[in-house]
Amino acid sequence: MKKPIIAGVSEILLEPHGDEQGMLVALEERKNIDFEIKRIYYIYNTVGCVTRGRHAHKDMKQVLLPVKGTCQILVDNGKESKKVVLDTPNRGIYITGLVWREMMNFSKDCVLLCLVNTYYDTGDYIRKYDEFLAEVKK
Ligand code: TYD
Repeated sequence: MKKPIIAGVSEILLEPHGDEQGMLVALEERKNIDFEIKRIYYIYNTVGCVTRGRHAHKDMKQVLLPVKGTCQILVDNGKESKKVVLDTPNRGIYITGLVWREMMNFSKDCVLLCLVNTYYDTGDYIRKYDEFLAEVKK
């Protein structure tokens, strides 16, 4: 289930399975994750005062899930922006298109799982905010 946050960004709610004895969330390509998953990475041990990201991608679909702990993500499509708290393992954020993102306020135990529809490609990054805005205006 997806709920729009700003253009290009939505909340994604995954079905949790389990009970008081334990929980499980399954991620399935082209089912509850609506793209081909080419890359999975996870971010952990991030120092609380650090801001990560600070970039946009020219062409990429991504789901971010806080499988453990909490963090915040600022998403900005050049017209509007929003800061979202990620604090529930089955509630993540789905980003598609040209969106500037910054992740911050990581809890010590935070593990942020990232699913991506592309292989790692440094050429797909826009790392300067003014270049991002120029790209949005194109
Ligand atoms: P970086 O993009 O700076 O992370 P963040 O946006 O979260 O601040 O990546 C950190 C390092 O990891 C950098 O050396 C590049 C490397 N990296 C990969 O090798 N593969 C990947 O898929 C990603 C996302 C990063």
